Amino acid sequence: GGRVVVLVSGGGSNLAALLTAHADPAYGARVVGVVSDRPTAGGLDIARDAGVATAVVAPADFPDREAWDRAVARTVASFEPAWVVLAGFMRLLGAPVLDRWGGRVVNTHPALSPSFPGAHGVRDALAHGVRVTGCTVHLVDSGVDTGPIIAQRAVEVADDDDEATLHERIKVEERRLLVDVVGRAAREGLLVDGRRVRFGRG
Ligand code: GAR
Repeated sequence: GGRVVVLVSGGGSNLAALLTAHADPAYGARVVGVVSDRPTAGGLDIARDAGVATAVVAPADFPDREAWDRAVARTVASFEPAWVVLAGFMRLLGAPVLDRWGGRVVNTHPALSPSFPGAHGVRDALAHGVRVTGCTVHLVDSGVDTGPIIAQRAVEVADDDDEATLHERIKVEERRLLVDVVGRAAREGLLVDGRRVRFGRG
């Protein structure tokens, strides 16, 4: 079925939404492992509380970028996932992961791509003065928050928004969107750039 590994660096609110959804067998996707680059990521606690296996692959534990990339790929592979979901994973994935799961790696980003990629999508949108921003779920390529767009939702900017209040409202939409996309992918495959991408076995 739809075995999914989720990669997190932070608090894990998107992961929490996926774990709530996967408790229903009809959802189709199942989170079989959570991997983080940060041993203190809150998402790891959320996974443990849900009884999901976790692993930490911290860059500091590896001599160089390539060794870390290989370790991430090895760790993800150990869970035999069909798809990989980046839910607040704040590092670029290297070739070892993209070569193996390319086209089956999904990321969520708190802005309307292609605007405001990077680690500060909410702050950058506010600084630009946009009146509408939102969230994007997309397939991952080797760029920062780039790759074919699967789904987006718009969120209006309020006059008194700061980065925290706006990000909170975006996250409400974002977790619904991510849960919807991952479930749909598991049950019927995804239509991306006019092509249907299906969950493989695993
Ligand atoms: C989410 O808003 C996600 O889109 C963002 O980090 C947050 C993680 O929240 N990712 C990026 O900015 C990627 N460029 P969470 O840990 O509570 O799910």
